Amino acid sequence: MHKIIAVLTAFALAGMTAAIAQAPAPAAAPAAAPMPPTPRQAVMQSNRTAAASYSAITISNMEPDAARAAAQTLIDNGGRIATLFAAGTDQNDPRAQPAIWTDAAGFKAGNERFIANARKLQAAIPDRLAMAVAMRELQADCAECHKTYRVPLAPTPGGRGRGAAAN
Ligand code: HEC
Repeated sequence: MHKIIAVLTAFALAGMTAAIAQAPAPAAAPAAAPMPPTPRQAVMQSNRTAAASYSAITISNMEPDAARAAAQTLIDNGGRIATLFAAGTDQNDPRAQPAIWTDAAGFKAGNERFIANARKLQAAIPDRLAMAVAMRELQADCAECHKTYRVPLAPTPGGRGRGAAAN
């Protein structure tokens, strides 16, 4: 153990000496660690997971409790969206359109439609047809809001931007 510490210390000292010798050291390249999601991104990622979970139940094994939980997550997320994008919360997020705040009434109306349709998702369980119809309406709410209030990703060469189609 002492040996390891001694070796590590020697390396660290050698590194420091080298860095001082080369001063001014070139700026280190920023680490390419993925950024953790912002609270807004996290609520949207939860929307995607919950909608996918509900859809999977609609077409496979009927698990009413799990479907209800997924619908409840979407209802709760609607409440979080109202708070997370409230007036005065503009932080110049690169993917959030300023229209969220300049047209706050339109954004609120879109979110309230989303919450109402999330409630329909819950009411439809376990009728698969009603569940599928309700999910189509909810997905239209996701798409409608994104079209107006989210900055689209730049298209990638040879394909569409990540998430451009799916979200
Ligand atoms: C009332 C408006 C609104 C509704 C409804 C809405 N979204 Fe979003 N969504 C946004 C906005 C605005 C952003 C960009 C937020 C940001 O980057 O800060 C976003 C971003 C996203 C992202 C990208 C998150 C990331 O990691 O960058 C996903 C995925 C997503 N939404 C999925 C969904 C799904 C699925 C639904 C429906 C079940 C939905 N959203 C409903 C407004 C909405």
